[in-house]
Amino acid sequence: MKTRDRLRIAMQKSGRLTEPAQDLLNRCGLTFRQSRDKLFCFGEGEPVDLLLVRDDDIPGLIAQGVCDLGIVGRNVLNEYRLTGGRDEAPLAEWRALGFGRCRLSIAVPQELDYQRPEQLTGLRIATSYPGLLGEWLQQRQIDAGVVTLAGSVEIAPRLGTADAICDLVQSGGTLVANQLREADVLLESEAVLAGAQTLPTDERGDMIELLLKRLDGVIQVRESRLLLLQTSRGSLDAITRLLPGGPQPTLLPLAGQPDQLMLQALCAGEVSWRQLEEIKKAGAREMFVLPVEKMLA
Ligand code: PRP
Ligand code: ZN
Repeated sequence: MKTRDRLRIAMQKSGRLTEPAQDLLNRCGLTFRQSRDKLFCFGEGEPVDLLLVRDDDIPGLIAQGVCDLGIVGRNVLNEYRLTGGRDEAPLAEWRALGFGRCRLSIAVPQELDYQRPEQLTGLRIATSYPGLLGEWLQQRQIDAGVVTLAGSVEIAPRLGTADAICDLVQSGGTLVANQLREADVLLESEAVLAGAQTLPTDERGDMIELLLKRLDGVIQVRESRLLLLQTSRGSLDAITRLLPGGPQPTLLPLAGQPDQLMLQALCAGEVSWRQLEEIKKAGAREMFVLPVEKMLA
């Protein structure tokens, strides 16, 4: 097989991860031109192309070397690690991407008083994640039946084909609508960047390293805010104590006012109105909260 010289990233064609994944790659400076069949996107600036596929196919495409990287839920990646092809390249989670957060959970009918996993003994549990569920049950030495379904897992208890389910929960709306209750969490999931455990040694490997560095910058600043304010030296300690996380603030003297300072602080997350009001009470004025677009450490 002729080796590719362009990097290929697989991502979900249409679903919860599609838009945030596209957005993340755009923020890393990658732009694409979509083909007419909407399955392939050609990278315009960098030699990086996208393949739009079903999320469940992504780990296999990487393991078989069709794609170098994939943006996929940790749930899908870990399930594949347990049930996928045995002689394929082992896969790694290169980065957690901070979107598409959900849980893989056991859910039971609302009337069942669930206290501990042992209560599942002898029950039939419907799931699309037989690998992860099987491993969880085995670790706890629980003997339960695993009913593997491709979809619509949540209706299995009502249909009488299972007593409980093991499925993804995000808002919890699906469970409520089906009179089910979340009982135990098997896995905290989010979108991750998956790839082979060893990077290719050619230009594609260099491109992956570059992309990882850009991703780190994007992920780091995505939630960061730059807080600017003015204060007198006397209030500085009180204000510094209220600053939400992040590295040491920078202080600049105001021209012609030796007692007055301008403070600049990088905050690790959102700065709420409440926090601003507290900081103002401590003696700050002229406060600004700015989003951070790029950061290169
Ligand atoms: C998942 C899961 C549930 C639903 C839970 O399906 O299978 O049906 O989301 O979300 P909620 O707690 O916000 O209601 P998804 O929409 O990802 O589709 P899929 O099962 O076809 O992958
Ligand atoms: Zn799916």
